[in-house]
Amino acid sequence: MSEEELNWKQYLADFHRERAGVAEAVLSRAFAGDHSPYRWLARAVSPDATVVLDVACGSGAMSRELAQPGRTVIGVDLSVEELALAAERGPGPWVRGDALALPFADASVNAVTSSMGLVVIQPLTDLLREVARVLKPGGVLAAIAPALRPLSPKDLRVLTRLTTRLRTKPQFPGPVELAGFTRTLDEHGLRRVEDARQKYHFTVHDRADAELMMSALYLPQTRWSRVEAAIEHLEDRVARKGPVQVTIPMRRVVAIK
Ligand SMILES: C[S@@+](CC[C@H](N)C(=O)[O-])C[C@H]1O[C@@H](n2cnc3c(N)ncnc32)[C@H](O)[C@@H]1O
Repeated sequence: MSEEELNWKQYLADFHRERAGVAEAVLSRAFAGDHSPYRWLARAVSPDATVVLDVACGSGAMSRELAQPGRTVIGVDLSVEELALAAERGPGPWVRGDALALPFADASVNAVTSSMGLVVIQPLTDLLREVARVLKPGGVLAAIAPALRPLSPKDLRVLTRLTTRLRTKPQFPGPVELAGFTRTLDEHGLRRVEDARQKYHFTVHDRADAELMMSALYLPQTRWSRVEAAIEHLEDRVARKGPVQVTIPMRRVVAIK
């Protein structure tokens, strides 16, 4: 494993220990019309799927969204702190485990979901090998990940004002826009059947919202003073012009084994 990968591993472990629940706190307040990204992802899973594995479940928002009578939703994550929150909020089962070595039998689940996992868990090829292994034939992988588009010129202006203050962009261990994703799916016997985009808006009403949103971003090697500058910018905009809508473009991919 390269030094860079090791650093990400440590960064993610520290981030999710110190800020458990922050992804859910932001994404559950991000809306496209009346629905959150979690709802969008849940809609990609057939009502017939009785055993669903939510990979990188974090504090369990996705698992709760998927709950329905007669279905078991198993949440798996590496972070003890995220799983502790998940256990407070929903029935589970919650399993501490590495998505690169899923502690489940071959062909044991009907569907695998992951909100943000595809850009966090690397190498992607190892993750997809595991996903393909645990899925039953005909089973479905459905995942959402942050994307670069769609963005209107206005959306882009709001984001650019933030990245200018940060002097960087939010980062992920995985490649931007899931480069090479379809080929990697194919290599593991997963056939892509959908690739859709949707933009969500997180509305900043006050400084607390600005702090929440900024603290949910992976910003390795960014000084807190830069993050403060972005928060202050948002606070100032709200004071002068009212609530600010920050756009979060998302991509939903669905593949069948
Ligand atoms: C951006 S958060 C997303 C959490 C949740 N899915 C959500 O959308 O609210 C990424 C999650 O991936 C987990 N994670 C990172 N590497 C992992 C790995 N190798 N195996 C399992 N979980 C991992 C982190 O602990 C964290 O909870």
